Amino acid sequence: MADSNDLLREMQSEMRILGIETSCDETAVAVYDSKMGLLAHALYSQVAVHAEYGGVVPELASRDHVCKVIGLVEEAMAASCSKPKDIAGIAYTAGPGLVGALLVGATVGQSIGYAWALPTVGVHHMEGHLLAPMLEPNPPSYPFVALLVSGGHTMLVNVEKFGHYEVLGESVDDAVGEAFDKTAKLLGLGYPGGAALSALAQKGDSKRFHFPRPMINRTGLEFSFSGLKTFAANIISGHSLDEQTRADIARAFQDAVVETLVIKCRRALKLTGLNTLVVAGGVGANLALREQLQQMVTAEGAAVYFPRHEFCTDNGAMIAYVGCQRLLAGEHGDLTIKVSPRWALDTLGDNK
Ligand code: KG4
Ligand code: ZN
Repeated sequence: MADSNDLLREMQSEMRILGIETSCDETAVAVYDSKMGLLAHALYSQVAVHAEYGGVVPELASRDHVCKVIGLVEEAMAASCSKPKDIAGIAYTAGPGLVGALLVGATVGQSIGYAWALPTVGVHHMEGHLLAPMLEPNPPSYPFVALLVSGGHTMLVNVEKFGHYEVLGESVDDAVGEAFDKTAKLLGLGYPGGAALSALAQKGDSKRFHFPRPMINRTGLEFSFSGLKTFAANIISGHSLDEQTRADIARAFQDAVVETLVIKCRRALKLTGLNTLVVAGGVGANLALREQLQQMVTAEGAAVYFPRHEFCTDNGAMIAYVGCQRLLAGEHGDLTIKVSPRWALDTLGDNK
């Protein structure tokens, strides 16, 4: 039979956290419980607001977060059947991201924390992404190599354990999602165009064009994707853009990106001696990338873990999850509303 101290410890380790994400163009809120898992998540995408400008307009993003965030907090609280007394802490994205957008989530998070007399914690957006697979029923175990592929970042990270992140390599120029979006724009697809380019690539002939595989012949785990967009622009200017040609270019671009990422992931697994790969970030939704990484890890005797599609892109669940781990570890901030638009992942925790 458990004694009263065990019971007390058990009760103290159960925590229900409200998480708020507003770093870019998605307003998202979730409720995560350390015992029961994810209870609710609500999201509003600003994609339609920014589409006509071909990219995120920071001031419009901030204003739209202001309009939507409180409604989403109410929605997530109701959907999780939570009352303020059930919540043990508030997590919000404190960086990296757009400063005005981050300030909305930070201000709302700190204000709710003050009103409900709860501890708050500022979460690193990329830490959220790389731990998003922890929300799945079959989560990976530490240590693992994480490939973070989003609209703003491309990096390989050695994740020794929670809070211990060593960046093994990153893009020296465009992020992979950015390269997808810029190439999609050249092909006349909407913004953000990664998913549309990927759908178009399915109809493309892989043999018609061949794009370079950037930086694969150099040692190390750095990436470079800006040349692929220029390569696409040159092909486009030399051809009439009928439907099949657009699909063939999309296919060749995607093949080059995917093969490059697969080569670097294999190299990172070999270099670290690890046999678990985690993929996170918006480009992690790409089916060709998922299939080819799966084939690579099977051949290497390793395993790969992906978050479900909706948690590849920005969401509140990953922020609530990370906030919960940090608050459980006894960490929390003061009442200062502080955000970090630039924030290196490997300066987190006691890694320093
Ligand atoms: O992680 P995320 O929401 O953004 C950042 O935090 O930066 O990822 C968005 C990025 C966009 O560049 C989008 O075009 C790309 O992920 N993306 C895709 C796919 N779905 C989203 N790229 C390639 N294939 C997809 N299926
Ligand atoms: Zn993101």
